[in-house]
Amino acid sequence: MQEIRVELTKNPKQKPAPGAPLPFGTIFTDHMFIMNYDEGQGWHDPRIVPYGPIEMDPSAMCLHYGQSVFEGMKAYRAQDGRILLFRPDKNMARLNVSNDRLCIPPIDEELAKAAIEKLVSVEKDWVPSEEGTSLYIRPFIIGVDPHIGVHPAHHLLFMVICCPVGAYYPEGLDPVKIYVETNYVRAVRGGMGFTKTAGNYAASLKAQDEAEKQDYTQVLWLDGVERKYIEEVGTMNVFFVIDDEVVTPALQGSILSGITRMSCIEMLKSWGMKVSERRLSIQEVADAAAEGRLKEAFGTGTAAVISPIGHLKWGDDIMEINNGEIGPLSQKLYDTLTGIQWGKIKDEFGWTV
Ligand code: COI
Repeated sequence: MQEIRVELTKNPKQKPAPGAPLPFGTIFTDHMFIMNYDEGQGWHDPRIVPYGPIEMDPSAMCLHYGQSVFEGMKAYRAQDGRILLFRPDKNMARLNVSNDRLCIPPIDEELAKAAIEKLVSVEKDWVPSEEGTSLYIRPFIIGVDPHIGVHPAHHLLFMVICCPVGAYYPEGLDPVKIYVETNYVRAVRGGMGFTKTAGNYAASLKAQDEAEKQDYTQVLWLDGVERKYIEEVGTMNVFFVIDDEVVTPALQGSILSGITRMSCIEMLKSWGMKVSERRLSIQEVADAAAEGRLKEAFGTGTAAVISPIGHLKWGDDIMEINNGEIGPLSQKLYDTLTGIQWGKIKDEFGWTV
């Protein structure tokens, strides 16, 4: 494995005071990881350097055609002082899935994991310890060729930056209000919906903006072809509890394969629950709600963790779910998942590193 060089900052920043607010994604630590790709040389020169702006040519390809991918993961401070990562191998594997779709040369997953572990250990004093906080880790890759012809880049950067964070949604664990998007679509099969690439999030901004203006937190996306089947929520996968079945849309190319989604499915199965990954129409959810069979709905994501949905609007149909309160299953998933992540309960699944 290539050696990761470390250059420490001479000007460490002031860290947020214990208990100070940590608005998601706004405060960055002292260092970042960076590695270059140049055709002929491959990925090379992995290094941890002081955090700061990077220089790019205005014609850099990522700025024009969005050849960029990213990941989202967190480091958690356990009560005994250990710092834990959650399933980092899954993030690195998914990064390479995104890379493949975006014509980005694959990274060495072991090197990338080692880089993240080293960066987090350099930044260990930035990992907050208050309840519900963590160090959000954002690995990303961008194509930087100075060339505005459309083709896969020959020169790229792989970088990792970190920020101490609190809850992603201001609601925290309080149920969010979501409406079903019937105008715009996020992704279609054969497109890039299964990847973590910038363009998927750019495609979601307009809908998100309109939702916020109407006092909704996010939108629920339907499939881009028939506009009938549920896909995901802006920054989360989504689950519905209908009777005794926990249903989440099957991954079929347009939905992100969430690591929290995967972990929830594994936890639910280990509790003997009936979990289905299948096509789920919004009509089926509305019918279940009308018949009193829709027990709970919740989103899952690294940033959002478990986010109960208390209010779902589909056209004129308003569904109040579990009286707008967090349901028992959402609470149990949250408690178990965060209990494992923060090292409060035994990690029977072997997920933490
Ligand atoms: C995550 O959950 O980590 C994400 O990447 C979602 C988001 C903040 C874009």
